[in-house]
Amino acid sequence: MRLQILSFITISFFFACSSTKNIVGSNGPVNPYQYTSLKKSIVKNGAVASAHPLASKIGVEIMKSGGNAFDAAIATQLALAVVYPGAGNIGGGGFMVARTSTGETIALDYREMAPALSHRDMYLDAAGNVVEGKSLNGHLAAGVPGTIAGLFESMKYATLPFAKLIQPAIDLAQNGFVLTQREAVSLNYLQDTLAKYNTMRTAFQKNIAWKVGDTLTQTDLSNTLKRIRDNGAAGFYEGATADLIVAEMKRGSGIITLNDLKNYTAKWRTPHSFNYKGYTVVGMPMPSSGGTLLHQMLKMVEDKPLPTYGFNSAMAVQLMTEAERRAYADRAEFMGDADFYKVPATGMVADTYLKERMKDYQPGVAGNSTVIKPGVLPMKESEQTTHISVIDKQGNAVSVTTTLNNGYGSKTVVGGAGFLLNDEMDDFSAKPGVPNFYGAVGGEANAIAPGKRMLSSMAPTLLLQNGKPFLVVGTPGGTTIPTSVFQTIVNIIDFGMTTEDAVYRPKFHHQWLPDQVDVEKTFPVAVRAALEKMGYKIVERGGIGRVEAIKVLPDGSFEAVADNRGDDAAEGYTPIP
Ligand code: GLY
Repeated sequence: MRLQILSFITISFFFACSSTKNIVGSNGPVNPYQYTSLKKSIVKNGAVASAHPLASKIGVEIMKSGGNAFDAAIATQLALAVVYPGAGNIGGGGFMVARTSTGETIALDYREMAPALSHRDMYLDAAGNVVEGKSLNGHLAAGVPGTIAGLFESMKYATLPFAKLIQPAIDLAQNGFVLTQREAVSLNYLQDTLAKYNTMRTAFQKNIAWKVGDTLTQTDLSNTLKRIRDNGAAGFYEGATADLIVAEMKRGSGIITLNDLKNYTAKWRTPHSFNYKGYTVVGMPMPSSGGTLLHQMLKMVEDKPLPTYGFNSAMAVQLMTEAERRAYADRAEFMGDADFYKVPATGMVADTYLKERMKDYQPGVAGNSTVIKPGVLPMKESEQTTHISVIDKQGNAVSVTTTLNNGYGSKTVVGGAGFLLNDEMDDFSAKPGVPNFYGAVGGEANAIAPGKRMLSSMAPTLLLQNGKPFLVVGTPGGTTIPTSVFQTIVNIIDFGMTTEDAVYRPKFHHQWLPDQVDVEKTFPVAVRAALEKMGYKIVERGGIGRVEAIKVLPDGSFEAVADNRGDDAAEGYTPIP
């Protein structure tokens, strides 16, 4: 089978010379062997932006067949679990922030939980040092998955039967779909790691290299999805699937038990909402740092002349970097699962506190993270991910970020069940002051404890204007998530950029420690030089984030934009030419 990619600026076409007998779902037109990919759609009735063209298309088909944005978000997440195994998942967790058609704003937490047998020093050796890789790869890295519980909780706002929403994912797993170039490369890169961390051969392993246009079929996964279709959440957390997870744990010395699975619960949270220049920003509260960091960073720059400085001017980047530095210093000290640790949630975002935090900001002079510490609060309370943005014509707007943590999570597939387990335990602080995979440090607030949820950076976000959806936005990227969302919002609100530019143009990132500004390769050379002159250490890195954004245009139509840093696709229906 051969697949050709014709790439235009915003559109790619995938053609596969293959049987077309297997059309996904009962809805018809999504063909997993021959599909197009749009980077941008302007549409009237509903839009989905996600990391994979097939997943975005399935979400749109669900809306076309009478579903709303919640139905579409559920079907898209399930499809991603098949076509985007690096981050789409049923073995991980996530967060949803949404605005319903009745104007209610809601937040759902389906973050993984630490197993009952976990303990704070579980990744340390006898000398008290962190054992490299132990929280990242293999069975011990996995937290108790939350995704399936989250999907069933979000059914509260859906209108179609779950069986209809999961069927496209079942079909994709059972009949296969053709790989993009990027996916083939990614799977080839993974082969040695898969061999090392699996007790049984997985669907992702192959004796010869994967290539673009190959069909990936996942029979075990399709059977697991059928059990979920037929038995609800119990099809995952109990019965055959749970038994397979526990058997896998036993083979690989993992610690997740049947009780851990049975006891998992998704939780409704109060969204973290605040005002920025007349827009209501609706974000995720703890156990994600996303909403709080966004609040801190936006408020720290709100009274400064950002629009005058201009996009990617040295002055704007410096100001935003200093806001990022201070917010991430607070993250390291104060943020964690608020059900376990007294997080100073209100103190950290108080206007007076944030003003105080910026008192030592000097325009044109680099701050220093050994001098700029976490703030002083009156009371000490306590990369691979993927994002989906969905909107419908009824006024529902859904922002979901979901993750296995690193690409392909722990690299461990549950034998016989066909899905990858997360390595979310690495998002805990294995030891105070020792950086995790993302270089983030933490302390007591984010120490491991049984049943606790590890601190996240995920920031599914909505912007409302006069209570109505204006922007649905989010991204993967570990600790770069809040800074990418921050910059996307500032690009649109302060710099007046188009959605495309706001998503595509180069990004930068500072997270307090290490004390450096990470920039993408395309970040302007002159601005780098100006920042270095101010005293900043600049480090070039690969792409930052893969933002999926949907903006509501003045005429009420939806402008959906998928990041050009990946295979991401923005689809919708009733296009406006
Ligand atoms: N695993 C990435 C995050 O939750 O921030």
